[in-house]
This record gives sequence, structure tokens and C-alpha cells, in this order.
Amino acid sequence: MNILLLGSGGREAALAWKMKQSPRVENLYIAPGNGGTEAYGKNVAMKPTDFEAIEKFADENQIDMIVVGNEDPLVAGIQDYFADKKVKIVGPSKAGAALEGSKDFAKQFMQRHNIPTARYRSFTAETLADGEKFLETLKAPYVLKADGLAAGKGVLIIDDLAEAKKALGEMLGGMFGASSATVVIEEFLSGIECSVFVLTDGNGGSRILPVAKDYKRIGEGDTGLNTGGMGAISPVPFADKTFMDKVEQRIIKPTIAGLIADDILYRGFIFLGLINVGGDPMVIEYNVRMGDPETEAVMLRIDSDLVELLEAAADGDLGELPLKEKEQTAATVIMVSGGYPGSYEKGKEITGTETVDESILFHAGTSRDGSGRLVTSGGRVIAASSLGDSIADALAKSYRSVDKVAFDGKYFRRDIGQDLMK
Ligand code: AMP
Ligand code: GLY
Repeated sequence: MNILLLGSGGREAALAWKMKQSPRVENLYIAPGNGGTEAYGKNVAMKPTDFEAIEKFADENQIDMIVVGNEDPLVAGIQDYFADKKVKIVGPSKAGAALEGSKDFAKQFMQRHNIPTARYRSFTAETLADGEKFLETLKAPYVLKADGLAAGKGVLIIDDLAEAKKALGEMLGGMFGASSATVVIEEFLSGIECSVFVLTDGNGGSRILPVAKDYKRIGEGDTGLNTGGMGAISPVPFADKTFMDKVEQRIIKPTIAGLIADDILYRGFIFLGLINVGGDPMVIEYNVRMGDPETEAVMLRIDSDLVELLEAAADGDLGELPLKEKEQTAATVIMVSGGYPGSYEKGKEITGTETVDESILFHAGTSRDGSGRLVTSGGRVIAASSLGDSIADALAKSYRSVDKVAFDGKYFRRDIGQDLMK
């Protein structure tokens, strides 16, 4: 079959790498892709939210299936746009994508279906005074979330009540543009986080993918600013059978049943951002796509034909198809541009990638310049992902690979996975 994958990050590189291994794939296109995705398919200069251009391309190239990597096209309704057309879509309807597109919607959904999550209330500029009063009823730290998509920046966690009240006013006043016109205030939960990915077929069928943990902060010891992700490990030792049984019973089953009960079509990935609160899983957030950089670790551990699974999900019947996991551990370390997640320079030449043989390099912010040189073009530049017999073994491989790749200003965290080895 011919597949069009939408997106340009490390996640899409990993999805493309995995899909390319399927004998079912004839042609794989990535729109727009990056400087590394040409190794798995053909890059197409097209915006993932330009549905008309995508439709034209799909017609001209006999595309059978579109796999949506990032959330923007889903929240904008790509599934609905193609619903009455021949091409299959891996991704939820616009109504389903609101689980990520609106935190208030997601919280209401969880409340309606008894899915464990932090206590919350939502406020707008009209109810600012009520919001301030609600903050007074909570204990520090205070968690304030912009309702809409804010490129991963819309969550503030503040220790001081007066500052939290001030931030609420600023958020409602447009700190994150329209996405913070509504603000969700919720109770702070304390625990260690992990990411659980579920592929659903919209008819009650689902498969759980390998569980991963990501490392969001720029600094070692989880300090400093939030980033798009600095590394990932899969599997996660604390997500053992007891924990995952609770995740399945208390979160996955009611989520899938809730979507069906609410008449929301959902054929694609559900990303559960979970927190382990004293052994009990609670939902921090839903996303409607795979995680980045978790995908760069998770794909290495899938021992089944991903394309077959995606096609079955898009067709609405996962049937008895297995999703097998490799027992080995995967470790991903992200190399970023100096200055990221603040401002950074682009266009730095990247060398040494051809000498890496123990890891897979998934490109994220890379491109080819006019003369074909590989150069940096984003904050997160390249992921080094490796399989090993332990977290330490997989990490050692990834770090040796990171050392072989050079570009001006390269930065990475040296403590990925350390918390899981204690
Ligand atoms: P989100 O964008 O909802 O994933 O939030 C970003 C990050 O903020 C999460 O990954 C958590 O580390 C943290 N966070 C969000 N909500 C809470 C909460 N209720 N309690 C503690 N930490 C939270
Ligand atoms: N790694 C978290 C995310 O993709 O949102």
C-alpha cells in the first residue's frame, strides 16, 4: 500500500522507520519530513494542516492510508475532512481530538466516565474572582493550564498563592493567546509519571503499546525549563503488571467505553499521560497522538508489523492481531541546539552520523542545505535510540552514539533513565 505520514519530528522519523520495515508498504511519503526521513521514504513539501493539498496529493499518488503524526491536523479535523473519501485515516475525529485540544473537555470527559484525575475547575475572564477563590481552597503548588493547544507551554505550576492569582489573571488576559481564554485549575498530584499509548479501532478493540517515560526538563535532575523532551526509556520498571492492570481497568477501558458512549469516533493512538500516586494511576493529560520522544524508544520495542495494525485500526477492526513487545530496553537521548528551549541558532553543520553503528539516529530538527549538507534546523536536532539488555546497557550505547555526532552548540542530558535505576 501507499502511505502518507504527516509531521516532521523525531516521532515521525521513528514511525517512518518502523513502517518502512513492513512488507505491506509500497511507497511511503512523509510531509514535510526532515533531513533524516528521506532514508525511509520520500519527503513532500506540504503542510500537515493543508487538507486540500493533502487531498490532491493523495489522489495523484494513490495514497491508501494517511497516518497523522502530530496533533494539529487532528484538532483541525483531518479525520472528518477525509471521512467520506477512500483514503483511510489513522487518527481520531475532531470530536475525539478535543481530548488534547481542550483540557476542559478532557476533564469533563474524565469526570463523566469516572476516570481518575486531579480535582479541577475551569474559569474564564468573567469568573476570574471565582478562580481566585478556588485557588484559596487548594494547597500549594498551584497548577494552572491553558485550555487549548499551547505548544506544550500552557501549564504553569506555581508555589505562591499571590503569584498563582496573578498568573491566572495574566493567562485569562491572553498570555497564551486564545488558548488561555479558559483556564483549568487543578489539584497538584505528586508522583512519578509515565506515558501509556493505546491503539484503538473505534469499535472497542485496542492494543497497548510499550510503556515509556520521557524527560521533559532541559536540565539534569529535572531542572530548568520544559522542553519538547530530552530523552525516553521503555519499558518503565514501576509500570509493572499490578500497575498496568489498574491502568487497564480504571483508565483504558472506561476511556474507550466513554468514547463509544459519547458517540466519538476514535481510530488511532490515545496517549495517556499518567502519574503514579502511591501505586494508583491518575491521568495528567490525554494526547491524541504518539509522544515525542517516547516514540523514538517505543518503536524499537514493537515486534509486530505496525502497518498491519494501523490499517486494521483505521478499518475499525483490530481483530486478533497481536502487538508483540521485545523484552529488551530501549533508551533514547536527544541532542538539542545550544540555547534551546530559548532562542538558538540554526544552520549548523552536523557531522559524524555515518559513524554511528550501535544506535538508530532519528532526525528531528535537521534539514539539507543548498549543497546537500546536513544542518540543524530546530531545537531538538537528533535522537539516538538503542536497544540493550538493561537500562544501563541501552543508555551506554546511546551515549556512545551521541559522542560521535557533532554540531556547534550540541547539548544533551547525561542523566536520562538514572531515576529508574535507583
Ligand atoms: P500537561 O501539559 O498537562 O502534560 O502538563 C505538563 C506537565 O505538568 C506534566 O507532564 C506534569 O509534569 C505537570 N503537571 C500537570 N498537571 C499536574 C498536576 N495536576 N499535578 C502535578 N503535576 C502536573
Ligand atoms: N513527550 C510528551 C509529548 O509528546 O507530549
